[in-house]
Amino acid sequence: MTARAVEQTLALFEPARRPTVPEIKDGYLDLLGEEDPTGAHPGQRLMLSSALALIYERLWRPLGGRLFMGAMGPAKGDELRMALSMLALSPKDRVLDVACGPGNFTRDFARAADAGLAVGLDASKAMLAVAARKSESANIAYVRGDACALPFRDASFDAICCFAALYLIEEPMQALDEIVRVLVPDGRVALLSSCNRGPLPARATNAAVRRLTGVRIFARDELTDALSDRGLTGIEQQVVGLAQFVTARRPNVVENPS
Ligand SMILES: C[S@@+](CC[C@H](N)C(=O)[O-])C[C@H]1O[C@@H](n2cnc3c(N)ncnc32)[C@H](O)[C@@H]1O
Repeated sequence: MTARAVEQTLALFEPARRPTVPEIKDGYLDLLGEEDPTGAHPGQRLMLSSALALIYERLWRPLGGRLFMGAMGPAKGDELRMALSMLALSPKDRVLDVACGPGNFTRDFARAADAGLAVGLDASKAMLAVAARKSESANIAYVRGDACALPFRDASFDAICCFAALYLIEEPMQALDEIVRVLVPDGRVALLSSCNRGPLPARATNAAVRRLTGVRIFARDELTDALSDRGLTGIEQQVVGLAQFVTARRPNVVENPS
């Protein structure tokens, strides 16, 4: 993380959230200190483990992808292509990767926006330490923060990705509020999360799966409705196995009702 990338990232902060002395440790800017917004379920706590952070990208994530999306579902390269297509990044864009884990997508976003800025935000020290070690681009910065209380000013990012994380975030609808708040007009959002399938209603599936694993199962229309309720347009959903990719755009012009 270069001094310039840190400076550019801090310039996007709400003035009241800007630390007077930024705490940079293990290659990321830590806003949380001893605070921990990660939920209490074992599946959520696992994300804080240094051992998991080390094997996440090579083993855990590909396996999780297969479990959620099936053997024929998109592999890492396909997911990346889908993310890049949904985010439609231009070289000068500012892109935020919410719950970036070990930076497995953030690094590619930094390459696609090579004259812009890619910021990865996550709550896990272990994940961010790996992310920082693996990232060589000069235009990348990592922040340890809470997805439900983003430190950034309104309308500060051109594109925002949140892959494989909303189902683990304690208050996912609050995270969506924040994502929409910090997105510029005409900005794009890309989500990958769980999706209820089969005969049981999402409420029933969610109750069982969440109790056992900590993973929340979203009803088929829950995320698309949530984005629409928050004023986003151009909403598209692609359901793959037990997962859904969702893209949307913040409208450029506020409709005048008169
Ligand atoms: C399964 S990983 C996803 C990583 C990456 N986006 C991907 O697609 O592989 C989920 C991440 O969500 C993070 N997370 C969970 N709750 C969070 C919160 N409230 N704020 C920020 N990150 C959070 C975890 O620390 C973990 O790194």
